[in-house]
Amino acid sequence: MSNMKISSFEEYHQVYKHSVEQPEEFWAGIADNFHWRKKWDNVLSWNFKEPNVKWFEGAKLNITENCLDRHLDTLGDKPAIIWEPNDPTEDHRILTYKQLHDKVCQFANVLKNNGVKKGDRICIYMPMLPELAIAVLACARIGAIHSVVFGGFSAQSIADRIKDAECALVITADGGFRGTKDLPLKSVIDDALVQCPSVKRVIVLTRSRTPVSMIKGRDVWWEDEIKKVETQGSPVCPVEEMDAEDMLFILYTSGSTGKPKGVVHTCGGYMVYAGYTFANTFQYTPGEVFFCTADIGWITGHSYIIYGPLSQGATTLIFEGIPTYPDAGRFWDIVDKFKVNILYTAPTAIRSLMSFGLDPLKDKDLSSIKVLGSVGEPINEEAWHWFDDHIGHNKAPIVDTWWQTENGGHMITPIAGITPTKPGYATLPLPGIQPVLVDENGKEIEGNGVSGNLCIKFPWPGILRTTYGDHERCRLTYFATYENMYFTGDGCLRDEDGYYKITGRVDDVLNVSGHRIGTAEVENAINMHSSVVESAVVGYPHDIKGQGVYAFVVSPGQHGDADLNRKDIIMTVQRIIGPIAKPDKIQFVSGLPKTRSGKIMRRILRKIAEGDTANLGDTSTLLDPSVVEEIKAGAL
Ligand code: PRX
Repeated sequence: MSNMKISSFEEYHQVYKHSVEQPEEFWAGIADNFHWRKKWDNVLSWNFKEPNVKWFEGAKLNITENCLDRHLDTLGDKPAIIWEPNDPTEDHRILTYKQLHDKVCQFANVLKNNGVKKGDRICIYMPMLPELAIAVLACARIGAIHSVVFGGFSAQSIADRIKDAECALVITADGGFRGTKDLPLKSVIDDALVQCPSVKRVIVLTRSRTPVSMIKGRDVWWEDEIKKVETQGSPVCPVEEMDAEDMLFILYTSGSTGKPKGVVHTCGGYMVYAGYTFANTFQYTPGEVFFCTADIGWITGHSYIIYGPLSQGATTLIFEGIPTYPDAGRFWDIVDKFKVNILYTAPTAIRSLMSFGLDPLKDKDLSSIKVLGSVGEPINEEAWHWFDDHIGHNKAPIVDTWWQTENGGHMITPIAGITPTKPGYATLPLPGIQPVLVDENGKEIEGNGVSGNLCIKFPWPGILRTTYGDHERCRLTYFATYENMYFTGDGCLRDEDGYYKITGRVDDVLNVSGHRIGTAEVENAINMHSSVVESAVVGYPHDIKGQGVYAFVVSPGQHGDADLNRKDIIMTVQRIIGPIAKPDKIQFVSGLPKTRSGKIMRRILRKIAEGDTANLGDTSTLLDPSVVEEIKAGAL
């Protein structure tokens, strides 16, 4: 497996050059580090026009054989998963590779007993428990396609996702714990399923033992189903042999228009890419403890809690709780307790912990830390230095990993200890990745000391293949803006040294605490409220979240005072999307600034939300320029 790892900056340059000149040879060499039941006939065929991208065509594999079975001889008794509960007084759990393998086989048999077949879509809505990873891997083992939905989404959002993918089965828990909160997961699923006739079965794990309704003929307990397969004898579940281009999972993500789309990843390419990036970026060496603080409901959790680490035989730590419970020293307690070597977290968590000062770090032994990672949003220099000084003690390289749900794994990032870091910079592309900056006309901007829109001009194995059920949407969103390029939606700077710095989204997508939220989605939810005529949502700089959600709302027929009406609107957004999309600020306005053709001038609203009202630019093309004065005067 170590054949994939680059070991010096000089080698990086050589390997990068090779990956551009001979991409197929390069990727075939990487793919050779995995277990294939049958090798590929063809490394790559592609065009970005349709788009149609196929990696390792003709190859047969199962990703769980790579994540579990192939390690049993050498790592069977080594920890695969360490689980730390929300409540620090509850016992932690450790699952060895052998135990994890057995549990995945068992649950895969449960799924089969419940009628699941290759190609079926399964919705997973669970707390951060080892059983969530087990459920994901069990699906992959039998060729079912998982669609994990983050616990912060509402019943309506879950229903939309279940309907879009026509899921046959849901896996959930009675409830979950996060900080001081009890999450009523099964109850949310019950609300969602009112709209989802395709779901015939719900498997419910017991976690919180909060009372839940169990509907006869539809709902079954996880533990009862496990008992049934135990009495059936053999815990073994042979893997389903998958084509490299069979779907592995769907993960929904927001864009600038319409409803979230189901990003599709396939078995062979995704496996290679998650494993390759994990091994390289973090320079993982056997025996180290890897702690990624993301939720498995996001791509970071898929690639760097489950598939990447396990494919490399690593020990991956799953934490059920939040960084500030029971106090702001929790991450450092966990690092100390399990001697974490690699800590991969988000700028928003770092900024939040910074705000508590250095007290929570007192008496915490962080000397095990070797590598630090950041993901999800641009990291400001202040947070970068705090992380470097107080957590890494200036000895642990920080890998600022830029990538997206659609990419499957890291794209532009330092390689820990091998390539240089630079505060606020994602730095250099991994070998195999060909970034380009383009101007509005799609013309490539060459040279250094330039900025533009970030595109990728050659496929990599982890690229999305389609958006579920709507290939045209995939083409329009990613491949139609610039000919023959994958468009990321991000703005980017390439400095004099050729290092990349991501400057943020250039479309109507917000990044709130590292979560991707479409402004159109939030507007649609606000507009569902009975008093609202229309609304416009923009982002504004937020000290902890990176970006906050600022809503300008036209709401003439209010019940109660403005404050209550605001709360009603927030409650509506919470119902339609979920707590993660709640507006931070709601300003009531009598009208929105529109051009004569009826288009909302978001540029003006963005400036007002940012508090930069001195310089609003030309407002003469507005239908009613006076509305701007009113909005300025009422800005929050
Ligand atoms: O804007 C970029 C930002 O997050 C977006 C991708 O969001 P999502 O698909 O939810 O995936 C997040 C985790 C991979 C990107 O378009 N982003 C992600 N990582 C970084 C980043 N922006 C700056 N620096 C990063 N390291």
